[in-house]
Amino acid sequence: MDLFEYQARDIFEKHGVPVLGGIVATTPDGARAAAERLLGGQPGVVVVKAQVKTGGRGKAGGVKIARSADEAAEKAAEILGMDIKGHTVHRVMIAAGADIAEEYYFSVLLDRSERRYLAMASVEGGMEIEQLAVERPEALAKVAVDPRTGIDAEKAAEIVEAAGFAADVAPQVAEVLQRLWDVYQGEDATLVEVNPLVKTADGRIVALDGKVTLDENAGFRHADHAALEDAAAADPLEARAKEKDLNYVKLDGQVGIIGNGAGLVMSTLDVVAYAGEEHGGVKPANFLDIGGGASAEVMAAGLDIILSDPQVKSVFVNVFGGITACDAVANGIVSALQILGDAATKPLVVRLDGNNVLEGRAILAEAAHPLVTLADTMDGGAAKAAELAHAAA
Ligand SMILES: Nc1ncnc2c1ncn2[C@@H]1O[C@H](COP(=O)(O)OP(=O)(O)OP(=O)(O)O)[C@@H](O)[C@H]1O
Ligand SMILES: [Mg+2]
Repeated sequence: MDLFEYQARDIFEKHGVPVLGGIVATTPDGARAAAERLLGGQPGVVVVKAQVKTGGRGKAGGVKIARSADEAAEKAAEILGMDIKGHTVHRVMIAAGADIAEEYYFSVLLDRSERRYLAMASVEGGMEIEQLAVERPEALAKVAVDPRTGIDAEKAAEIVEAAGFAADVAPQVAEVLQRLWDVYQGEDATLVEVNPLVKTADGRIVALDGKVTLDENAGFRHADHAALEDAAAADPLEARAKEKDLNYVKLDGQVGIIGNGAGLVMSTLDVVAYAGEEHGGVKPANFLDIGGGASAEVMAAGLDIILSDPQVKSVFVNVFGGITACDAVANGIVSALQILGDAATKPLVVRLDGNNVLEGRAILAEAAHPLVTLADTMDGGAAKAAELAHAAA
């Protein structure tokens, strides 16, 4: 899960990373009030920053300086509602203005191919970092980080030296890097990026921007992370599926997919997409893995979500009976259709194979539900489902 900058700022603060005051606002009036609080009646500068989960906000005009609370309201009015790379700005953060002497770059991320972490740092941070990485890669230090030791004092000193930080800031920067590691490890992040990390005119090191990605698989260790989710942005079907603990991903096509086991579901998506080429170009509408214990309730919950997707025109249920045998799955489908009643309106193609397949097929044949077609093979089922979706489209 990617965080907004203001959420990253709060987490940085919690772990002792130096940050400036920042207050979120959703209206120009809110921005004015936030600026008044930050300025405390004194003359000064605040920065109005678009809160969207994409980079390059500054260049897109989403980061603007304001020299008074009224000006902050004006800038907020300009920025709110703006579109930045396909993201609509619904919130701004009013940040205390920093008097910047130098801009640096730092990030730590998961390096999957090397099975460890990677820290990157540069004394030439700011908005052109992507360009720097391409044009002068030597200016961006890359230092491997061993997961067992992380960024301790020694590793921080190594990173600071590799990036060429000047002696007057090196110890302070090294200290901040250890705090940022604390964020990375303590919050189970897969990315912590600070661009820019700045030296202020009075010689302090401060994180002025923050990008944090949290590892959702570690969510069970962090009760507070659930509140960071952007519920408004979540796909409504995915949100409902999540509530029911279903492994569901919304896609763009017309054929709803239910299978058991991530591998089988992935290949089902492939064969349906392939079959769709013969049937008007229909495509899979979702990924849904109902897992090993495909009970009637899980089947009903999955079907319910898929059938309520208005884009879905047919459904392909592709189950390989293993520990949960095909007869149990077939009973699950029959009861799911009973539970759904009139809510079940779209044709279902069911392919069962594996443990107790004959019993399973017999149960479905006996129930003879008007919406259900049995398929003998995965390819045959995919072709039938694609054909039905095309006919209904
Ligand atoms: N609080 C602040 N005070 C003064 N200047 C700031 C402040 N925050 C940001 N800036 C300036 O605005 C620039 C852009 O801000 P920031 O890095 O937060 O947004 P960005 O362009 O979206 O960056 P990214 O592409 O990394 O998301 C910074 O490089 C910095 O020069
Ligand atoms: Mg930035």
